[in-house]
Amino acid sequence: MEGLSQLVTSRFSFGPGHDTKSDLASLPVPLEFYYELVDVFNNPSLFEAAHFQKYPIDVILQYLKCTHQFYLERRLGEIELSIENLVRNNEQGEHWFEFLHRFFETYKTELTEHILDEEENLFPYIDALLLAEQKKEVHFQFSQKIKLINFLLRHDHQIEDDLRKVVRILGEKSGQFEDSFSFRMLIIQLKNFELDLAIHARMEEEVLMPKALELEKEILNNAKIPLKGGDV
Ligand SMILES: [Fe+2]
Ligand SMILES: [Fe+2]
Repeated sequence: MEGLSQLVTSRFSFGPGHDTKSDLASLPVPLEFYYELVDVFNNPSLFEAAHFQKYPIDVILQYLKCTHQFYLERRLGEIELSIENLVRNNEQGEHWFEFLHRFFETYKTELTEHILDEEENLFPYIDALLLAEQKKEVHFQFSQKIKLINFLLRHDHQIEDDLRKVVRILGEKSGQFEDSFSFRMLIIQLKNFELDLAIHARMEEEVLMPKALELEKEILNNAKIPLKGGDV
């Protein structure tokens, strides 16, 4: 089972053009950013938005995009395999594992939809803002723009809450299955994922969005175009 710093490093091997070795020399984010992340994974109470706000938006976006891909292409599949393994070796006839399996199937679908919404709507809009800032010209269609503030307001925590509940229930059952190596591994995987998602959501809400809102305001003011347009 990987340690927390390995967990942070692993995600940076995901994403177009990234080095699959994911060693520290080839990280697509500054080393300082990486070390601050590792500290937060080791001790979530150290998370302070201000620490991360000092980095440019594209660094934050890079981290979030790599993390999305890491979840979709690796993490969700690994957890699913662990659950399937438990269901398959379910000698005690524990129907709870079947329930867990069904829960995770739904969970995976919902989390994937959440991620795709961000990848297809939010991130391209922020990329377009960055391009507009760089070129000092507005290159995106205002008629298609989203209101960032609405995205922030409807950023959903239901997914994290559901996982937290299931991890808690599993923790309560752990005494029953303390002999099962697969069960103990699954608990560790789920707890790490819960932590990972919580940090991810805070990075989106407390770091990315305030910076993107500021940039949007600046660009729209410079362009002297009124802030209006459709919601997401
Ligand atoms: Fe996300
Ligand atoms: Fe999100």
